[in-house]
Amino acid sequence: TTLLLLCLPLSLSWTQESTPRPVPLRTHSMARVSGYWYSISMASDDLKRIKENGDLRVFVRHIEHLRNGSLKFDFRFMIQGDCVAVTVVCEKMKGDGEYSIVYNGKNKVTVLETDFWLYITFHLQNLRNGTKTQVLALYGTSPLNPSYLDRFKMICKTYGLSSENIIDMTNQGGSSWNAVQSPLAPPMSH
Ligand SMILES: *[C@@H]1O[C@H](CO)[C@@H](O)[C@H](O)[C@H]1NC(C)=O
Ligand SMILES: *[C@@H]1O[C@H](CO)[C@@H](O)[C@H](O)[C@H]1NC(C)=O
Repeated sequence: TTLLLLCLPLSLSWTQESTPRPVPLRTHSMARVSGYWYSISMASDDLKRIKENGDLRVFVRHIEHLRNGSLKFDFRFMIQGDCVAVTVVCEKMKGDGEYSIVYNGKNKVTVLETDFWLYITFHLQNLRNGTKTQVLALYGTSPLNPSYLDRFKMICKTYGLSSENIIDMTNQGGSSWNAVQSPLAPPMSH
């Protein structure tokens, strides 16, 4: 089936004057991450993987906390100019906010912080072919004001990543593409 996927645009101006207020992460509260999210910023020690045509360059659309504690991500990414939908399930690990998934290698995904409302920051450790790569991602439910980006920069720094490792994921493309739905992606139930 062919469908029209809006691959991105998040070009609104900032809607809030708030500052980041992370709340403690507890397994029993993780259900609150469920909802629509947008990719705001990404960082990696291997920029190739999150830049144009990078295998880890994904745009989030929706996150669902499943009953068994796993997190289901609805992503969009570009394959040879087509915007493709993919759904992945990250299995819950023992630690609070820790998940694992096999996707372009083995991955450990950690929720670093969130307010369960405006923003969430993920850390991903990817192991592929004996090479370790770190990716950090900032997602927002709406455009975020600069104080959230400053905080993201600070978090990146604690993982050894500087401003040069960070890329803006908003206003990328900003148009729609005719896309073929990926065979990996079952039709979304909502
Ligand atoms: C949790 O549920 C999802 C969706 O039904 C499934 O894909 C996943 O394998 C389950 N995880 C575990 C650990 O059972
Ligand atoms: C994995 O490493 C081998 C040996 O260095 C190389 O030939 C192969 O292309 C690599 N595969 C990927 C996906 O990077």
